[in-house]
Amino acid sequence: NQERTLAIIKPDAIRNLGDIVSTIYENGFTIARMRMIKLSQNEIMYFYGEHKAKDFFPRLVEFMISGPIVAIELVGSDAINRWRSIIGPTDSQKAKEQGSHLLRARFGTDGTRNALHGSDSATSAQREISFFFGSKYGTNTACYN
Ligand code: CMP
Repeated sequence: NQERTLAIIKPDAIRNLGDIVSTIYENGFTIARMRMIKLSQNEIMYFYGEHKAKDFFPRLVEFMISGPIVAIELVGSDAINRWRSIIGPTDSQKAKEQGSHLLRARFGTDGTRNALHGSDSATSAQREISFFFGSKYGTNTACYN
């Protein structure tokens, strides 16, 4: 079943954009829309609103405004869970223990600087795709690879 999810290449992994896009296509996803943007503090706080009471929230916000990010609308079968399994666990050190192929193992550093984001549910995916791209879905779902 075809799904959509929102991936983010975080500021610490921007230099690895090429390798990450290659991995996305190697895993059979299509990129419907993609956007490089530097968000304001308020925009990041809104995007991660569900975490605002967590102790790591200030670290997360500071990290996410430290440079540009790339938001990607991914389309593919079982995209939400499959993308999360390709990036690995939130903590990059845990990802490194689980396997060097995991994207957070390859490009992340710790629990905050973890290179990539993936929506955790269909509800989150819809909200997060709308945040970056508007409520209309991307129609660029053709796949040439
Ligand atoms: P992400 O998957 O984008 O969702 C929330 C982000 O908060 C997460 O990746 C990390 O960057 C950060 N985060 C989550 N849990 C922790 C934690 N325990 N300590 C520090 N940062 C965290």
